[in-house]
Amino acid sequence: MTVQTPVAPNQKRVEITASIMCVDWLRVGEQLTELETCGIDYLHWDVVDGWFAPDFTMGSSIINPIRKASRLPSDYHLMVEEPNRVFDQFEISPGDIFTIHQECARNLHRDLVNLRRRGAKVGVAICPATHYDVLEYVIEDIDVIVLMTVNPGFKGQKLVPQVLRKLEKLRRLVDDMKLDIRLSIDGNVNVDTVPEMVACGADILVGGSSGLFRKDVPIDVAVAELREAIDAGLARRG
Ligand code: DX5
Ligand code: ZN
Repeated sequence: MTVQTPVAPNQKRVEITASIMCVDWLRVGEQLTELETCGIDYLHWDVVDGWFAPDFTMGSSIINPIRKASRLPSDYHLMVEEPNRVFDQFEISPGDIFTIHQECARNLHRDLVNLRRRGAKVGVAICPATHYDVLEYVIEDIDVIVLMTVNPGFKGQKLVPQVLRKLEKLRRLVDDMKLDIRLSIDGNVNVDTVPEMVACGADILVGGSSGLFRKDVPIDVAVAELREAIDAGLARRG
């Protein structure tokens, strides 16, 4: 009989979610297969409405068929004003994460309840300038908190470094409250930034143009390098 050692919440496996807005769209099928083979944990769908974030990415007519072509669970990231307007457009399977922005919801608690009813793990994202205090009265109802380390909407931006201080404090708060919440980091996740992100308490990392879909190396090499960087960060955790 194997005896399992209990794992403290902040020592669970660090997961990588692949930001599909950064794929090579001419090779999307091949890249989906590579992501599965390399042990990526989720497909991260960035949905932008041209208002909260001034650009457009993918809507349900692109996302729903592509997600069906992969065995990986979905990790939705809606950068959309009043996101409850569009919940029904997206397919949700058990195990999927569905994240909305605190800054976008007119009634955050109502939206989280609706999402949970649809069977999603519920996530709330906050922009670099937003304090996590805004989550005080919904924190027990959240499965994932996404800290944006860049301003939402565009790939290829630079890290806003003070978010790492926010991550460290939020990690402590979540652990002190003994909540089963995963902390996800989105923006400029790469081999140079990952050790610090993981040392500060990140559980999920969004692999985008700087860390996963790189121009200089194929996806499998990028994943191996990210995993090494994750191990370096884990070794620094107290
Ligand atoms: C930014 C998106 C990210 C993006 C980050 O708004 O939410 O998912 O793809 O990837 P990087 O910063 O590495 O290009
Ligand atoms: Zn994202």
